[in-house]
Amino acid sequence: MFITLEGIEGSGKTTQIKHIAEFLQSKGQDCVITREPGGTKTGEKIRAILLDPESRDMDPLTELLLYMADRSQHIKKFIYPSLSSGKTVLCDRYYDATVVYQGFARGLDIELINRLHELVFEDLKPDITILLDLPPETGLTRAWEQIENGSRTALETRFEKETLSFHQKVRAGYLELAKKEPLRFRIVDASNDKNQVGNDIIKILSEVKNISRL
Ligand code: TMP
Repeated sequence: MFITLEGIEGSGKTTQIKHIAEFLQSKGQDCVITREPGGTKTGEKIRAILLDPESRDMDPLTELLLYMADRSQHIKKFIYPSLSSGKTVLCDRYYDATVVYQGFARGLDIELINRLHELVFEDLKPDITILLDLPPETGLTRAWEQIENGSRTALETRFEKETLSFHQKVRAGYLELAKKEPLRFRIVDASNDKNQVGNDIIKILSEVKNISRL
């Protein structure tokens, strides 16, 4: 089973992914947490370049290709091997993030993104995608509080420094994707407190058919 979490900055994915892992483990499932960009040694190096605020003049196509390089490595070296050995993979962001950030928000051609994806991952789609939805004003306030109190690194703030309208496009893009694939996407109101959000996610996962095989 392949589960992805998506959402804007400050939507709480990192907290919730741990909560999901604990829930699945309590059901006897063997699961691994991973993330994009990152998730492999090479990917973590690509992540550092992508999220470094000093990379602010990066060309959008360069940015897209770096995300693709990260994903290619991640799929081949981590996701496929984990799924093949029967593990559930919980991934903090995956290709929907590219469609939304590089496509909807940066304005790159979504057809081009989809074609590159076909090359990179063939048919590896998530079984379920949890979209943590909240207004960007709330998400960005939370993200900056975490940066200021040190619980989130200031070395990875290139996207937090984007304009509010960029983040509004990201949110709208996610909601549009969710509308197109209502079976795969499950939207959770992430403006609630984290316990409520956690309960909502567990409720969704509990209702998934064959949870015992997740
Ligand atoms: P995060 O790991 O803290 O969520 O940060 C990852 C950042 O990278 C986030 O701002 C979204 C951005 N991103 C893209 O722009 N495209 C992508 O394909 C992915 C996976 C992430």
